[in-house]
Amino acid sequence: MPHDVRLHPSIATPLGRTWQNQGRVLSKGALMYPIFITDEPGSKIPLGSMPNQYRWSVDRLSEFLGPLVERGLQSVILFGVPVLKEKDEVGSLADDADGPVIQAIKYLREHFPTLYIAADVCLCEYTSHGHCGVLCDDGTVNNDESTKRLADVALAYAKAGAHCVAPSDMMDGRIASISAALRAAGYGGKTTLMAYSAKFASGMYGPFRDAVASAPSFGDRRCYQLPPNARGLARRAIARDVAEGADIVMVKPALPYLDIIGDAREIVPDYPLACYQVSGEYAMLHAAAAAGIADLRRVVEESMTSMMRAGASIILTYFTPELLEWIDSPVAA
Ligand code: PBG
Ligand code: ZN
Repeated sequence: MPHDVRLHPSIATPLGRTWQNQGRVLSKGALMYPIFITDEPGSKIPLGSMPNQYRWSVDRLSEFLGPLVERGLQSVILFGVPVLKEKDEVGSLADDADGPVIQAIKYLREHFPTLYIAADVCLCEYTSHGHCGVLCDDGTVNNDESTKRLADVALAYAKAGAHCVAPSDMMDGRIASISAALRAAGYGGKTTLMAYSAKFASGMYGPFRDAVASAPSFGDRRCYQLPPNARGLARRAIARDVAEGADIVMVKPALPYLDIIGDAREIVPDYPLACYQVSGEYAMLHAAAAAGIADLRRVVEESMTSMMRAGASIILTYFTPELLEWIDSPVAA
């Protein structure tokens, strides 16, 4: 008769259940909070499809982030939403010295000296056409012009004081181009390069594009973001980006791509691995809770656990404020 192995004793108590985590536990330091900064002074503008999220102006960042830093917030990633100046074909507003991102980096470095500041690097929030790069006359992306422009933008953020620059554009060769620019200017030893390496052409970016007004005015992003079926290309993109000089790699979106997070953990076991729980994932969990289909805290924590289990070390999530509280008040099982 086979030995009767019992699993239930392993999960009979709350503490015993926590011991099944194999060392992968969400901590406050793993959370990176994506925030939206606008150039219109005095702003706190609700983002329609993203409950509890706002576009903030630099002059209100202390009101917004002060209580969160108090609660244990350790890092943010900045997205700029310029509304006062006109966008152009090359996204000049991305590295405008008076623009929201550069101003916010400087403000945060001064007022929150312990906060780790990452800046998203892309052109889509700043171009008149809404694409992530510079375009050729026929409307396709001009890859090489784009990587040059992205390197200028990344360097401007590094000079303003960003600890980390994070290109989300998906042009070929942008990690090499940004890395070379940082090194040439003396930032090679201090600015971290976090690559959105496996970024998929997802249907889950809708609320974000509304929030930052970055939807392409024609076409879509399928010729530079990865097709959702492309596990092999994702693996190649991850290996390529670390070879080009990435310090951290990212998988995005997160929940529908846990297998890719698992692959990334295996391809780059010695690197920090980030994943981005994107705006659509956030909105869906809120919508499910609002419809009475799920308990918000329970499903958000379950989503975090799944990402940690798959191998993530950093999670970008709009649920950061809630999670900072929940980590301090574990629910009795
Ligand atoms: C821009 C960018 C996007 C997101 C982060 N950076 C949108 C896109 O590629 O269209 C998505 C974030 C989210 O949905 O929360 N390159
Ligand atoms: Zn973009």
